[in-house]
Amino acid sequence: MTKIAVLTSGGDAPGMNACLRAVVRYAISKDIDVYGVRRGYQGLIDGSIELLNSRSVSSKIQRGGTFLKTARSQEFTTKDGMEKAYETLSAYGITDLVVIGGDGTFRGGKEFSELCGINIIGIPGTIDNDLAYTDYTLGFDTAVNTVLWAINSLRDTMGSHGRVSLLEVMGRHCGDIALYAGICGGAEHILIPEIEYDLDEIAADLRKSQKRGKTSNMIVFAEGAGDRDAVCKELSEKAGVKITTTTLGHIQRGGSPTMFDRLWATKMAVHAVELLLEGAKNRVVGIKNNKIFDEDIAVALSKKRKIDKKLYEMAKILGR
Ligand code: F6P
Repeated sequence: MTKIAVLTSGGDAPGMNACLRAVVRYAISKDIDVYGVRRGYQGLIDGSIELLNSRSVSSKIQRGGTFLKTARSQEFTTKDGMEKAYETLSAYGITDLVVIGGDGTFRGGKEFSELCGINIIGIPGTIDNDLAYTDYTLGFDTAVNTVLWAINSLRDTMGSHGRVSLLEVMGRHCGDIALYAGICGGAEHILIPEIEYDLDEIAADLRKSQKRGKTSNMIVFAEGAGDRDAVCKELSEKAGVKITTTTLGHIQRGGSPTMFDRLWATKMAVHAVELLLEGAKNRVVGIKNNKIFDEDIAVALSKKRKIDKKLYEMAKILGR
């Protein structure tokens, strides 16, 4: 193997650039040519591919987003689209592709390898931390720290006015951003899609806490935890308090990656290139118990993500 391609796909995540930098520079050090694909799988379909060199990744390690750009390609989900993507790679004589992204990126990669025989090595990059096989995905740590910054700011003003605040964070199907930011930001309540919540109980808690002299309360709400406005209205009526809402939105996806995201991005990228040098086929790289490991892509995708219930219970006790 003397050449590979690399792409980022799905939602961008801080740490993707650090990961690309390490893939490019480590592969070059092993005499492998690295081709960068623009806009994820869509770029493969459109033939948007170019040879990268060490300078292509200069001054990228500290930047959020992805300099290769990203997309959620509908066309790539079709046989036609995958065949077009295959043509691009075969025109360059490339059979090995490193993909950085989340669940959808890996599923697309797996189907691509089954249909066209391209070898896929996956690196988890998504702020959601929703891949079951790995403890952490790139971007999650940075996103949680961004949410913590927001919680700190909200607490200053909410505390001054004695208000109740509901902060909506990302996470359509996975409550990890809300859970980790909630516990580290000392939130009184955390609402996530994986665990049923009782608005009567939360309203009673809000009333009790006010009686105890706690004037401000922070509720962290994952976007997939229900209809935010309806929850807010019901809670407000039941508790007899005004609730101020803030939606953090895409701010969570940007920003300079933390040390954690840069370090694991680098380690996972080097591991991915090592896998290619060993001739490994269709693997995904991950982090388990603070160590890098790899696993068959189909096995990894068959795992079901579980929320850390202990952490959730702990947050509930400590938020009182
Ligand atoms: O990348 C994951 C994610 O940020 C989710 O948390 C969120 O629901 C979604 O992407 C938003 O996607 P879009 O880029 O389409 O706004």
